[in-house]
Amino acid sequence: MSLYALLAGKGPSGFGYGSTAEDVTAGLSLAGKTILVTGCNSGLGQEAVRVLALRGARVVATARTLEKAKAACASVVGETVPLACELADPTSVRACVAAVRAADIRLDAILCNAGIMALPKLEQAYGFELQFFTNHIGHFILVTGLLGQLTDDGRVVMLSSAGHKLAPKGGIQFDNLSGEKGYVSWTQYGQSKMANLLFAKELARRFAGTKKTANAVHPGVIQTNLGRHMNPVAQFFFGLSDQIALKSVPQGAATEVYVTVHPAVAGISGQYFADCNVAQARRDADDPELARKLWEVSEQIVAKLP
Ligand SMILES: NC(=O)c1ccc[n+]([C@@H]2O[C@H](COP(=O)([O-])OP(=O)(O)OC[C@H]3O[C@@H](n4cnc5c(N)ncnc54)[C@H](OP(=O)(O)O)[C@@H]3O)[C@@H](O)[C@H]2O)c1
Repeated sequence: MSLYALLAGKGPSGFGYGSTAEDVTAGLSLAGKTILVTGCNSGLGQEAVRVLALRGARVVATARTLEKAKAACASVVGETVPLACELADPTSVRACVAAVRAADIRLDAILCNAGIMALPKLEQAYGFELQFFTNHIGHFILVTGLLGQLTDDGRVVMLSSAGHKLAPKGGIQFDNLSGEKGYVSWTQYGQSKMANLLFAKELARRFAGTKKTANAVHPGVIQTNLGRHMNPVAQFFFGLSDQIALKSVPQGAATEVYVTVHPAVAGISGQYFADCNVAQARRDADDPELARKLWEVSEQIVAKLP
């Protein structure tokens, strides 16, 4: 546990910076619940799958390939269903949606955890900047495809990041979704995480009047494979700060697991959580017009994909 985690306090939820995914689910039985988690084979997603299954949930665990998903599932105790879902490949995401629908798996929650960060050079999928496409568009296809499988009080949880604050002025550069008019790795990562947040906000608006909820999460800063694209100097200092200030993986998975299953979060929707408590996002993340526009643009993008 880092020094900071030892000293940090707890928020109104009774949990805080130092809480782990096991802490926030202690005493909970998730028997009878089914939860889909993307990015099950690494970092926070792997820990979320482990703890959700440990508490009795059936976890539909997705990874880029079926082999990765199967290996991840084999490493945890409990009931898991491995599925392929390559978020940068719409055909793969649609096949994942089709498999869940064909088996008529009812989902108590969809935890959109997978992501990539800070690609050093512009990469694209279908003409769109790859972080935006993977982190946002891939999950947009998945979640909108699975809305009919959500239970009456089902939850959608989006892994955003405090990095959403690095998004460009205005939140989303709708005239530069290709990245070709200018690419700054952290700005584009921030934009993708702003998109995750805005998606949760707009989904929450669309869920109004039902018991379904949508929220976004900042997990903290944790040393995982996510940093693999950072330059070696940044990785060195990141590693140095690990014992002092960073969260461990069990602590990093706490907020997403808390928002996905904790009874205290039932009925809370359209919020941004950090350290297992409601937190303040950048002001434009609360702009309903921006969220609505992103949804409409995403629909138009998806309509043209294979
Ligand atoms: N770690 C942090 O400090 C931090 C801070 C803020 C937010 N977050 C967010 O937390 C989430 C989890 O990150 P992490 O730290 O656990 O990172 P991680 O260890 O790198 O795990 C990311 C997961 O996403 C999967 N993934 C990446 N690209 C994918 C694609 N195209 N299709 C399907 N799956 C894909 C990865 O699969 P492969 O292993 O096959 O690549 C992996 O399973 C991310 O959304 C990230 O933005 C993390």
